[in-house]
Amino acid sequence: MRVSVVGLGYVGLVTAASLAEWGNDVVGIEADEARLTALKNGRMPIFEPGLDDLVRSNGIASRLRFVGPDGMADAVAGSDVVMVAVGTHDGNGGWQTDTISQTLDALVPLIRPGAALVIRSTLPPDYVATLGAYMASQSDPGERPIPTMLNPEFTREGTAIRDFMQPDRVVIGVVTDDDEVGRNALATMYEPSGAPIVVLPAVDASLGKLAANLFLATKISFANELAGICDTYGANVDNVVTSMSYDHRIGGAFLRPGVGFGGSCLPNQVTMTLLAAQAREVHAPLLAAVKQINEFQPRRVLIALRELLPELAGARIAVLGLTFKPDTDDVREAPAHKIVRHLTAAGARVVAYDPMPRARDAAMAGFPDLAVTASPMVAVSGADAVVLATEWRELRDLDWAAAAELARRPIIVDGRNALDPASMTAAGWTYHGFGRGTQQPATWAEPASIAAAEAAVLSLVPTASLGRSLAE
Ligand code: UGA
Repeated sequence: MRVSVVGLGYVGLVTAASLAEWGNDVVGIEADEARLTALKNGRMPIFEPGLDDLVRSNGIASRLRFVGPDGMADAVAGSDVVMVAVGTHDGNGGWQTDTISQTLDALVPLIRPGAALVIRSTLPPDYVATLGAYMASQSDPGERPIPTMLNPEFTREGTAIRDFMQPDRVVIGVVTDDDEVGRNALATMYEPSGAPIVVLPAVDASLGKLAANLFLATKISFANELAGICDTYGANVDNVVTSMSYDHRIGGAFLRPGVGFGGSCLPNQVTMTLLAAQAREVHAPLLAAVKQINEFQPRRVLIALRELLPELAGARIAVLGLTFKPDTDDVREAPAHKIVRHLTAAGARVVAYDPMPRARDAAMAGFPDLAVTASPMVAVSGADAVVLATEWRELRDLDWAAAAELARRPIIVDGRNALDPASMTAAGWTYHGFGRGTQQPATWAEPASIAAAEAAVLSLVPTASLGRSLAE
């Protein structure tokens, strides 16, 4: 199958490379000159495990090539399926649909009869609802509109290639597809995955994508609240989650407490859905609480350090890990950055480390007062406390006994519950995790900041829809 993929960010590039690996003839189209030049020269503009090998081997096999806007007309005209994976976040917690609208305006007239348009970008449902009329307006009267489908992605950064090739399901959202040309093309394309294919109306498919992320975010905030409850009883959240996880209705995934969820998807999509609910006067207190809990988690590190250290102002704190999760160079909405901000505001001297040079550069650019080092041991040397903010394997496997010797005070706040408390204690550390009987319970938080966080979140929920019990 001949495929064009427009937009080569995390989603588009993984899609293009994986489809090429499945034997398709793929052209990636990218408007950003620096990104395009990097790809043409065999350099990856993003870090994703295994992606460079896939791009290189499929490039050599002539199944994958990259073009700029000047190559778009030829590539699109020669494609059976045209996929769009341009960004739809405004980088500020909101949606932006200008880029996709402009892309569709440029693209749709180029698509040849019999080919299908597939949108992989995550879209707001109200925008999706307008797509049918838009596609009809692009065809001549009496002609059938181009088959147009949504194909939301469920890939996680760090495991994106495996998630693409072995998905739990493939969702197809039908915008317009009178002869089933689009869904048949996608069914053929995804045959190698062996995954069940779920065909839905387009708006339902777009909500199915958002709802999956909202539910994952809810699980994490639940785990974070549960961790506070476990601390109150001196219980261990790992054991509590293990006991829950055997129940097939619940499962054990996404129940790891810590400094909260980050990245370009979960935090933004919770906020954007809350804002949409607000605009429509829909009562969404559960999502408001998910957001509130998540925004509070990085502050818990500060609360713990205030209890553990005689004085936070002037103390040297090592923050290990700067990306929003391991195995990516993405620092968008990284909880580590929020921790650095809180610590710096409290007067601490922060030294940070991350294995990814791009993540170190981003932190240096974002925080003028932050010292950044390329060695975890240098960060730990002379530290009054260490915060593990991202659970990179390299950090989990650090020689923690040697690190304890280097620290001025061997105190660690494990922001990801990634280290074994008993081994850390044996290695000489005073260990604090989340819900492992060592973190201060929720009631120890500063009342003023809790009240402020609650007020900020409640302001997102329309008062008219709060109902009597809350309004009273
Ligand atoms: C998320 C979804 O998991 C993907 O299915 C989806 O395709 C993607 O968003 C998207 O919409 O594009 P991603 O943001 O790459 O993927 O990362 P996740 O693995 O979901 O992790 C998100 C955050 O939650 C990370 O900061 C991670 O550290 C945190 N997390 C995850 C926890 O704090 N606890 C957990 O138990 C799991």
